Amino acid sequence: MKITLNLGANAPSIADVIVLGTFSKKEKKGKKEVTTPSFSNWAKDCKDAFLALGAAKSFTGDAGTQITFDWEGQRVLAIGLGDKSAYDNEAARRAASSVATALKATAETVAINLDTVAVKGNVEVTAGLFTEGLALTIYEFDKYLSAKKTPKTKTITFDSKAKKTGQKKVQKAIDEALITCESINVARDFVNEPPNVLNSETYAKAVVNDIKGTKGVKAKVLGKAELKKQKMGMFLSVNAGSAFAPQLVHLTYTPSKVTKNTKHIALVGKGLTFDTGGYSLKPGAAMVNMKFDMAGSATVYGAFRAIAKLGLPVKVSCFLGMTDNAINSLATMPDSIVTAKNGKTVEILNTDAEGRLVLGDVLTYASEQKPDCIIDAATLTGACLVALGTEVCGLMGNDKKLSDSIKKAAASTDEYIWELPIMKEWRDDMKSNIADLKNIGSNRFAGTPKAAAFLENFVGEGIAWAHLDIAGCGDSQAHLPYCPNKGASGLMVRTLVNLAKNQ
Ligand code: BES
Ligand code: MN
Ligand code: ZN
Repeated sequence: MKITLNLGANAPSIADVIVLGTFSKKEKKGKKEVTTPSFSNWAKDCKDAFLALGAAKSFTGDAGTQITFDWEGQRVLAIGLGDKSAYDNEAARRAASSVATALKATAETVAINLDTVAVKGNVEVTAGLFTEGLALTIYEFDKYLSAKKTPKTKTITFDSKAKKTGQKKVQKAIDEALITCESINVARDFVNEPPNVLNSETYAKAVVNDIKGTKGVKAKVLGKAELKKQKMGMFLSVNAGSAFAPQLVHLTYTPSKVTKNTKHIALVGKGLTFDTGGYSLKPGAAMVNMKFDMAGSATVYGAFRAIAKLGLPVKVSCFLGMTDNAINSLATMPDSIVTAKNGKTVEILNTDAEGRLVLGDVLTYASEQKPDCIIDAATLTGACLVALGTEVCGLMGNDKKLSDSIKKAAASTDEYIWELPIMKEWRDDMKSNIADLKNIGSNRFAGTPKAAAFLENFVGEGIAWAHLDIAGCGDSQAHLPYCPNKGASGLMVRTLVNLAKNQ
């Protein structure tokens, strides 16, 4: 899908379908309140043609409603945007998504009148939002389908009367959104890939191959021998029953200009290519979809990729801890005690609480790079779904400023996030009487922040750290039209990219 920009447009671009937005307004007609569409920025004869139609009478302009009609032989799709005062950034993404859903199977070329769908009249911002809504909706994971779902739409043109002098800025908004969404879709692809294809070794290779040639980026991969040398006893314990080598992918992006004020962000991701639970085996139904247990790594990789390709002026290191949690006679048994890279001993009471073991050692490794902050993302706890549902990302951390900046970044991209506390009592509950720590709490309560209380032990002294539990929001999002109903959501990539932009 190509997006082209046509500023200074007096007439719609030539296209199979042109798209016009209409707001709705509520009016009192006698005692009754009626909702009617308003046609601001529509060409007068187009509006007249529409109003002459019988079908027009049922169209209210409410958000999510649509109607198609012919105007002098031109196919027109009118989309309802709802009340103008409620039409915000997220409403624009969803409006764009509804255009993609309606037309992707039928129209080869589409021209969207940006002036009719602009948020607060801002064409530049709207161009970015519409690009996001379109690019995220058009995504399909059809690799394994004989009947491909390739969209018919090849070109979408944004028409606007706005002056050509704004070309550069509006184009930049489109390009940035395209790069970010492309990275989100790369992340989604990795998550959706089945575990017989994507294992730690093929995953690490695929990431290195995908980032190859990106300006300012260096990549290295640590295998089993290197992890042993690093004394990553927790990470290795999870990999003990695996047919594949553990892989720690270490990526760095250095911007073209570095000053003493350049911030250094470290991103850490849980990359469990499959989680059987290990000897603490998951029941059959709970094991299905555990290919998605590497979504944290895909999320931070997607953000890293976008940040590097956007050339943002911030240094980013990215650490992806990859293995599966499998079983053979060498697999870690419950009751085992292992030694973490930072020297702490851990009693493994449940081999299904494996993500924290991998992340803990990777957090210590990341801390050695002395970043200004570390943010990890992980499908860490089922308890996060109980606490926050499938829609909301859990946030925990040790630094108010960092947590606040993540919340702010999430709010400005309309991604849902909610902070949970880490209480002293929960830190205490993660202590073992025969080792420094144990990997599960003593009851099922506060499972999500207790996991964070465990992770906190492996963050280097004085480093600001935040943890994103994406166990819910990383997967299928039935409520978001621009996320697949079934499969990886790609959520939180935009938040992390936005956070890097705000540095
Ligand atoms: N990967 C799972 C968490 C998970 C469960 C993510 C369901 C998404 C959906 C994690 O490794 C795990 O198994 N956690 C355990 C922790 C428990 C043993 C303390 C859990 O949530 O049950
Ligand atoms: Mn598990
Ligand atoms: Zn897991």
